[in-house]
Amino acid sequence: MKPARSGVIVTGASSGIGAVYADRLAARGHDLILIARRGERLDALATRLGSKYRSDVQTVVADLANDNDLTQVEALIARTANLGGVVNAAGLGALGLASSVDPEAVDSLIRVNVLALTRLSLAAARRFGAEGHGTIVNIGSIVALMPVAGAGAYSGSKAYVLNFTRALHAELAPAGVIVQAVMPGPVRTEFFGDAPAPFPDALFMTPETLVDTALRALDQGEAVCFPTLDDPGTWQTFEGARGQLVKAVMQSGQPAARYSRG
Ligand SMILES: NC(=O)c1ccc[n+]([C@@H]2O[C@H](COP(=O)([O-])OP(=O)(O)OC[C@H]3O[C@@H](n4cnc5c(N)ncnc54)[C@H](OP(=O)(O)O)[C@@H]3O)[C@@H](O)[C@H]2O)c1
Repeated sequence: MKPARSGVIVTGASSGIGAVYADRLAARGHDLILIARRGERLDALATRLGSKYRSDVQTVVADLANDNDLTQVEALIARTANLGGVVNAAGLGALGLASSVDPEAVDSLIRVNVLALTRLSLAAARRFGAEGHGTIVNIGSIVALMPVAGAGAYSGSKAYVLNFTRALHAELAPAGVIVQAVMPGPVRTEFFGDAPAPFPDALFMTPETLVDTALRALDQGEAVCFPTLDDPGTWQTFEGARGQLVKAVMQSGQPAARYSRG
């Protein structure tokens, strides 16, 4: 993460993927501000990382679904001295069929996975764009490519993360700002809670392997990282097909022949 030894804000640092980002970034010499709702978890991690790596690790308890808390974290991004990175790892699944999913959980999902990630990325984009350096990492999911039953809002939110982050990358790369979307498959964290995970055990990666892989991809300049994708040509083929579809729907502004009357 560039600049080296700068400060990094990590959301969702109280468990799973965010907590491992905190560990690995501290190991790389970054000072940290850790954000989540569970303050005791953050404080325990900060104490551990502070003594293990001698990094300065601060914690901020914030509910990113809450507008006041989100505004405070935005302000933190604007004013923290020597800030070089923001990792948006906070997120939730709100999995379940449309007929039974808890509407409040879906509301939180949209606030955290979409709104908070957007506002914190834009706050970082304003600052890093003006400074000409900085790194933004947004955690998506392979579910972005899978509009499946039982994960409508989650899949939609991660498709948003992918498109939003790629657009930000296109805007900010010329200004020297690094923007990366990380698209994990299943990762063994607290994400699925007590519910059985809808994937076979063999598909799960540890959060340590996931973060180490994603950071390697970041070092290699990958703007979109699918940590489990062996053949990058598969993504290029997908991108090629997407480009062809875009071209096909941008031909004339007229309805397609099959929709013409009579
Ligand atoms: N695990 C997977 O299979 C998998 C796969 C692909 C992508 N992902 C993505 O990876 C990211 C991290 O998930 P994880 O697997 O590490 O799950 P996790 O262990 O459940 O961690 C989720 C983190 O998000 C934080 N969070 C949730 N709601 C929040 C809120 N309202 N305000 C502030 N923080 C909040 C949690 O902290 P508090 O509860 O303390 O607030 C926690 O630190 C998510 O974006 C998830 O969608 C996960």
